Amino acid sequence: MNQKSANQQWGGRFKSGPSTIMEQINTSIDFDKNLWQQDILSSLAHSEMLAKQNIISNEDKEKIHEGLKKIEKEILTGEFHFDKTLEDIHMNIEARLAERIGEAGKRLHTARSRNDQVATDFRLWIRQHIDELVSRVRHLMLNLAKRALEYADTAMPGFTHLQSAQPITFGHHLLAYVEMLCRDQGRLNDTRKRLNENPLGAAALAGTSFPIDRQMTAKLLKFDRPMANSLDAVSDRDFALEYLSALSIMAMHLSRMAEEIIIWCSPPFSFIKLSDAYTTGSSIMPQKRNPDAAELIRAKLGRISGALIGLLTVMKGLPLAYAKDMQEDKEQVFTATNTMILCLDASAGMIADLKANQDQMAHWAGSGFSTATDLADWLVKELKLPFRTAHHVTGKIVSYAEQHNLTLEKVPLKKMQEIEPLINTSIYSVLSVQASLASRTSEGGTAPANVRKSAQSWINQLKDKS
Ligand code: ARG
Repeated sequence: MNQKSANQQWGGRFKSGPSTIMEQINTSIDFDKNLWQQDILSSLAHSEMLAKQNIISNEDKEKIHEGLKKIEKEILTGEFHFDKTLEDIHMNIEARLAERIGEAGKRLHTARSRNDQVATDFRLWIRQHIDELVSRVRHLMLNLAKRALEYADTAMPGFTHLQSAQPITFGHHLLAYVEMLCRDQGRLNDTRKRLNENPLGAAALAGTSFPIDRQMTAKLLKFDRPMANSLDAVSDRDFALEYLSALSIMAMHLSRMAEEIIIWCSPPFSFIKLSDAYTTGSSIMPQKRNPDAAELIRAKLGRISGALIGLLTVMKGLPLAYAKDMQEDKEQVFTATNTMILCLDASAGMIADLKANQDQMAHWAGSGFSTATDLADWLVKELKLPFRTAHHVTGKIVSYAEQHNLTLEKVPLKKMQEIEPLINTSIYSVLSVQASLASRTSEGGTAPANVRKSAQSWINQLKDKS
């Protein structure tokens, strides 16, 4: 029988190689090749430090750096052969280095383990992608703020329980998402701050007897400081979990926005229209214009929060320090990241694309006695009624209007006076949608003047940073 030979990186004490199925379950190169840039970066920093500390010679370091630069080129040009039998990206790169530069390449792994190496690479990868996501979120926020300014005066019905509640402006509604996304950005930046510590030098789990300089590798890799405890450094993935939970919350926000877009462009609503660029047709019903992108964004939270729950479940109950279970961290993070990028970009595109049907929105803004609260407030302000009493009186007027199929503005004064004799004509000044909107000037309220100011200030802030 043909036996495979033992692994060239760690197979010293092994007589033969792994079974095919062992190899299949163990290999991660198909997905962790995503870490190749970070792996080269951390190896450059590690070897730089080894040479400065006289753990390897300068000559070897130069060879290692040259070799790694060549490998970088090979990967970029697609010449690099990723080998499943070498398990992962770390061993693929190291084996190729030894193949290219011989002895010196075999010295790179001094005072290091794949355990601290993978923790370092993964932190670097997530850090880079947080920056990438933050700039995409900013782009989406800017698109929302621009549309908010454009629609600062556009009336629409504000809902609670998806029932007409009070008139609001479309701009105000869009700005609500800008606020949510700003907190999402904040959560990502907080995650970045906490993850920005250097695991390199923790070695397998206990540190090393070599006189390494972890401050130096921290500096070279732009980490704030070395991680304080070697066991913690190689065995926690809380940074990935924090990242995935920040992404899950953001995906939930995008899912809600997508759902609203779907409702708004459904024909019975017809509040907005998406162009051909963001809709698809039906293969059987020629009249259809389906908001597929929005539907997919609504759904993608399943994948992203699935990644969070998946990794939490992997980490639950794992004894310290490293265990191979942790190799399952990467696909979750990669999938969630790619999905998030897609959702952010598609959301930004749809927001820029949508057109509001302002007449339709205005019509429904006034429906469902949406200015009833304004009527009650007038009774409190002008007649000094207690709010509860005013609420009751308003209820009676609404009931009359409903029975006679009238809007509040059309209820005759005489009828109102039958319910509350002190009501006078000035009550009509607060019953229109426009009056209601203009009066909502409290801080954070929907008045067009507020919305214009807030949208403009977001635009200024976001433009400065992009
Ligand atoms: N591919 C491994 C992972 O992603 C690297 C660390 C392997 N360490 C080990 N001791 N087998 O987790």
